[in-house]
Amino acid sequence: MVFEQFPSTRLRRNRSNQAIRDLLAETQLLPSNLILPLFVVDGDNQQQQIPALPDCFRFSIDLAVQQAKIAYNLGIKAMMLFPVIDPALKCPTAKEAHNTNNLMCRAITQIKTALPQMLIITDIALDPYTSHGHDGVVNQSGEVLNDETNEILCLQSLVYARAGSDFLAPSDMMDGRIGKIRQFLDSNSQQQVGLIAYSAKYASNFYGPFRHAVGSINNLKQADKKSYQLNYCNSKEAMREIALDISEGADSIIVKPAISYLDIIKDASRNFTAPVFAYQVSGEYAMLKLLANHCQANFSDLCLEQLIAIKRAGAQAIISYAAIDIAKFLQ
Ligand code: PBG
Repeated sequence: MVFEQFPSTRLRRNRSNQAIRDLLAETQLLPSNLILPLFVVDGDNQQQQIPALPDCFRFSIDLAVQQAKIAYNLGIKAMMLFPVIDPALKCPTAKEAHNTNNLMCRAITQIKTALPQMLIITDIALDPYTSHGHDGVVNQSGEVLNDETNEILCLQSLVYARAGSDFLAPSDMMDGRIGKIRQFLDSNSQQQVGLIAYSAKYASNFYGPFRHAVGSINNLKQADKKSYQLNYCNSKEAMREIALDISEGADSIIVKPAISYLDIIKDASRNFTAPVFAYQVSGEYAMLKLLANHCQANFSDLCLEQLIAIKRAGAQAIISYAAIDIAKFLQ
């Protein structure tokens, strides 16, 4: 230990101007650390506002391609796609999830064709496709069935992989799904497709705006996802989930939400060598928008502070609805 004492030590010297502060900054955020989530709707030339998620839109595939190009030109190298499925196509068993020509598959293929360098990450879970809004299939008493769900997740994974996804991100929180999906992909010649596991996905109250954005809120109604997503009182359980997912073949893992779970991000990055991603979720983003709009604060300043905190805690990359705004701000 170095013995430091005032007045020979004056820590303010290292903070006295921007140059020294920049020189000594321990954490840097680059546009290439950001992943852009995008909501995709059917149709042409569609750009729909999402009231619950200010300044975010649902884009038809043609405009999603434009967004991908804008993001890429700002240095963002990865995006995550979420489909807004026509309610008429939803059913209890999520059949549309593994239709080879579904909205998601068309979006993946068209973006990948227009911009092959952009990494496409797709969310694996059944909630955009189920009439009850759960991430899996349910029995008569409404319980979400684990192993039956895994079978469908495998089919969904294969169609998204064949459509051109670089990575699949299972967000459903079923037990054993990473191993099942990995095996199924491998036995269908999709060894090159990676798995980014949402291992520490909490049953959070901050997913509300997302459920409005994809429309699953009308299906889920008063139900919750606490029988499969993690209890926010726990951190050790998250470490068990991460360990299992890595042992089953996850290439990297996600902690979600992010800002209320910095301790989990830190534990994950200290305990495991696999890369850790963090998801600044819809409610976290919307809170910052509200603060910026109601308190004359600058949104980008607020958001950058939180993204840096998430990175400082140990996240390699961050999924953020503000990715484009922040990439511009960083320039
Ligand atoms: C679906 C899924 C959700 C989110 C990402 N994938 C919602 C949920 O689990 O209900 C939430 C993302 C956000 O709030 O930004 N499994």
